[in-house]
Amino acid sequence: MLLEDYVAVDECRRLKARVRELVDAFDPQSVHSVFSTTRQTQLNDQYFYESGDKIRFFFEDGAFDDNGGLCQSKHDSLNKIGHAMHDLDPVFEAFSRTPKLARTVASLGLTDPGVIQSMYIFKSPGIGGEVTCHQDSTFIYTEPESCIGFWFAIDNATGVNGCMNFVPGAHKTPLRQRNRRLANGQFVIQTIDETPWPSNGWVPAEARAGSLVIFHGRMPHRSGPNNSALSRHAYTLHVIDRQCHYPADNWLQRGDDLPLRGFEQG
Ligand code: FE2
Repeated sequence: MLLEDYVAVDECRRLKARVRELVDAFDPQSVHSVFSTTRQTQLNDQYFYESGDKIRFFFEDGAFDDNGGLCQSKHDSLNKIGHAMHDLDPVFEAFSRTPKLARTVASLGLTDPGVIQSMYIFKSPGIGGEVTCHQDSTFIYTEPESCIGFWFAIDNATGVNGCMNFVPGAHKTPLRQRNRRLANGQFVIQTIDETPWPSNGWVPAEARAGSLVIFHGRMPHRSGPNNSALSRHAYTLHVIDRQCHYPADNWLQRGDDLPLRGFEQG
């Protein structure tokens, strides 16, 4: 579902300016954590797996040269920031917990929503990588499944700079995989259904800045690399029903000091 002009472009600019401040304050020497869906570098990356209740910074594959230095500025090298800005940063909190969004979530039938995750996704020109086909319930799994994704275009997203792509109706197909922590502490992506990904029917979800794309946790989606010169920033929230069971072997866990909140202002 695409809701055009859901937030004012000024709000997008405010979020972008806040991200610039956060990245300015981030020391890239402190961490070399890469997020890549093609190489799955985040599997068993402790910095990643402990980021569910923090604000952490993840680089693009290819951000570093052979000597471990950044090939370009840190602002142009990041893949994303995650995963609790909506709870920890006042500017993100204000963007994420508006009465309008609370009403939208309520209209989708979620009676006890909890905002489990936030991500600021850069997909920067020239380096922003492909995101391979996946379902978000693979990573944000509840019993019964309740994950819904909210994807805000902060820049215009088009077929040229790597917009998202969906197959309308494919959210009715099975959940294929689950990301979980094994008893030995290792993280794996397990196949739970062999149904192949849709091979046709893909539709680009072009969205101008300020638009909101809402999609079901079982909706297969993907996006191409950003080979253009155009920035393609996006901000996502994932919401679950707090009445559903949240397994202890999900990758994303929160400390007791950061309980799962809905859309009430903090
Ligand atoms: Fe996704």
